[in-house]
Amino acid sequence: MPNADLYELAEKYRPEFPVFRSATYLNTCSLGALSERSRSALIEFADLWSRWGASAWYDHWLAATDDVRSAFARLIGADAAETALAPSISAALSTVVSAVDFRERTKVVTTELDFPTLVYHFLAKREQGVETVVLTSADGVSVPLEAFAEVVDEQTALVATSHVYFTTGAIQDVTGLARLAHERGALCLVDAYQSTGQLPVNARELDVDILLTGALKWLLGGAGLAFTYVRRSLTEKLRPTVVSWFGVENQFAFDPRRLTLRGDARRFELGTPAVPTVYTSRAGLELVEEVGVGQIRRRVSSLTEDLVERAQAAGLRVRGAATLETRSGIVMIEHPDPAAAVRRLMEAGVIADWRPGAVRLSPHFYNTTDDNEIAIRLLAG
Ligand SMILES: Cc1ncc(COP(=O)(O)O)c(C=O)c1O
Repeated sequence: MPNADLYELAEKYRPEFPVFRSATYLNTCSLGALSERSRSALIEFADLWSRWGASAWYDHWLAATDDVRSAFARLIGADAAETALAPSISAALSTVVSAVDFRERTKVVTTELDFPTLVYHFLAKREQGVETVVLTSADGVSVPLEAFAEVVDEQTALVATSHVYFTTGAIQDVTGLARLAHERGALCLVDAYQSTGQLPVNARELDVDILLTGALKWLLGGAGLAFTYVRRSLTEKLRPTVVSWFGVENQFAFDPRRLTLRGDARRFELGTPAVPTVYTSRAGLELVEEVGVGQIRRRVSSLTEDLVERAQAAGLRVRGAATLETRSGIVMIEHPDPAAAVRRLMEAGVIADWRPGAVRLSPHFYNTTDDNEIAIRLLAG
């Protein structure tokens, strides 16, 4: 699609995001901007709560949880039966990994570029005999397949890493990783928090076993809801030991004498979901689906390139993946005091973020090159 059309896309959807009336928002990888649809959905939830109290569960809220599971399934090319809701990635990880048998194969391979919660989860299992290999990144941007290939072996239970690395925005070759893991008899778990909503993600094509993501960032749904995908052929084999009443057959039979886990991925659900976020994320997922992840990818790619070019032209150093194909909408601009720089941006009306040594900017489809221009001018000034 030509750039002009992509520009129209931003113009069309930008009015849906009130933040742009008062600020330049470039921090989607921390928190997607609130849309008018999600705000209305939140009010709809409150109205239902106010009018019906607990009866809203049966007539509205349980159906809304089905809607988000289905929307998430469509987003990643899966069936709703392969999806489950969780309060956070950390919680989703806890239940799904509780089903992995580490007795025969004791090793987990992950990387230093992964979000710490992923790595902590396995480090905490050291006493139980789980050995966590944390691969280092030679260039500080990504970890090549060859580095995984050197350590993934017949002792490896799980290869667990990100689709997009949260600090550098580098896109990992997940298909290659899944192939490698499977060739050596291991499972492949992917943290897709930073990819779903900004990149086309198809769990079947990636051939991953477990995929985790959440509503907060590129899916524009706010805090409190994560999504789990477990490959159908694996679900029955994975018996979680971290369970809840939402994960059993006949949930409303309230029978504490027997535990009969559901046959689908909802066996990994953990208790009452955050219904306000079910509402806001249903609206967010609808918006992402309406715009289309293919279009979003093209728009975000062109904004990312523009941002990198502007930064380099202004004499700033960009830390990120080398090629267009492996670069996503997270741009790290090196800075000696990024926290102070982000504060100054904030005072000038630009909402950004930082990580050690760099200011982090992350445009979504609602951004424009004018946003980039403002941010880079302030950073360079
Ligand atoms: C890639 C990635 N994984 C996991 C998390 C944290 O997930 P949660 O707070 O839902 O456990 C984040 C950031 O918030 C992230 O960027």
